[in-house]
Amino acid sequence: MGKTALVTGVTGQDGSYLAELLLAKGYTVHGIVRRSSTFNTERIDHIYQGPQASRRTFVLHHADLTDGVALVNLLREVRPDEIYNLGAQSHVRVSFDAPLYTGDVTGLSALRLLEAVRASGSGARVYQASSSEMFGAAPPPQNERTPFHPRSPYGCAKVFGYWATVNYREAYGMYAVNGILFNHESPRRGETFVTRKITRAVARIKAGLQDRLYLGNLDAVRDWGYAPEYVEAMWRMLQRDEPDDYVVATGEAATVRQFVETAFAHADLDWSRYVRYDPKYERPSEVDALIGDASKARELLGWQPHVRVAGLAEIMVDADIRQVADQLAGATVRIDR
Ligand code: NAP
Ligand code: GDD
Repeated sequence: MGKTALVTGVTGQDGSYLAELLLAKGYTVHGIVRRSSTFNTERIDHIYQGPQASRRTFVLHHADLTDGVALVNLLREVRPDEIYNLGAQSHVRVSFDAPLYTGDVTGLSALRLLEAVRASGSGARVYQASSSEMFGAAPPPQNERTPFHPRSPYGCAKVFGYWATVNYREAYGMYAVNGILFNHESPRRGETFVTRKITRAVARIKAGLQDRLYLGNLDAVRDWGYAPEYVEAMWRMLQRDEPDDYVVATGEAATVRQFVETAFAHADLDWSRYVRYDPKYERPSEVDALIGDASKARELLGWQPHVRVAGLAEIMVDADIRQVADQLAGATVRIDR
């Protein structure tokens, strides 16, 4: 019998890649989808199995991370071996506009889920999607021993989720781990995160659909990796004998400006003709530089990244160019694999 996993945030970038990975490994995957007035399953439609399918290995459930009772009921029904808590209000800039909501969904919900595991009597292993944003103002390189100094309500919420996970491990002997992932991107990245905003604009400018790209701070430094490789690290963390916390990163730094240059150059465009500054995209407090040291993941999980920032920008530009071409041709827009 294969294992059973429950994935919160299955409709998101990471959730969709993780569901594919687990299905390929023979898991039965249960995903939580929150109710929306418009379709929010675009990233998983290609693996969806309808309720009438003869043998379902991918099952979706309506629930919400803010509904603790629904979580308990779901855990009693699904009885997962592994839980991946990827659901969150994950946008840092938005967390300044909706700080209490972000605190609830991104922070308190991690505790809600851990408590639901306890209340349901589940022995499931739990992965918590922690973030390099927790390091905030702490100077790079950052690793598992770097003190946290969050710079946003989102970062504060993730610190809460991190410590709740450590506490449930220590207090109840739960197998609960934190993956402290640095920024990771893909053609499935949400359109308002900076990499995707840039690559989507490149494709639209190239096609004559857009003539300006407004951005905020071009000097911010990030360590950008490729999302499909990062979900492999999540899975590896739950296969170890003992639970522990791991940084996942490439160790390579680039500024937003460098990402812009690479993405525009890949489409033979001169970025300075199109990119303009808008202070609207600045944050009240910025995280200047995140560069991860993932030696522990390399040594203990045998995990290492292969796609680096320049290759990543090219993968994303190519995918957006294909997507714009599909749109212009009136064809069904494919989610890039
Ligand atoms: P994402 O694309 O924004 O996906 C977030 C997911 O959470 C979506 O499925 C979303 O549903 C769901 N969600 C939001 N509010 C919810 C609620 N109240 N109840 C249930 N589900 C809810 O994020 P991602 O990039 O895949 O990231 C996955 C996780 O890793 C997040 O926790 C994020 O904070 C964390 N993380 C991400 C990165 C990164 O660079 N990508 C780095 C470190 C940590 P809808 O589709 O309906 O919106
Ligand atoms: N989104 C956005 N839009 N960011 C911009 C823009 C813009 O127009 N212009 C400049 N930036 C800068 C931001 O100020 C930030 O320094 C950097 O680009 C990256 O911003 P995002 O892509 O929004 O990502 P993030 O680093 O704030 O957060 C992402 O990574 C975290 C891990 O470090 C998110 O995925 C978080 O969920 C994740 O935890």
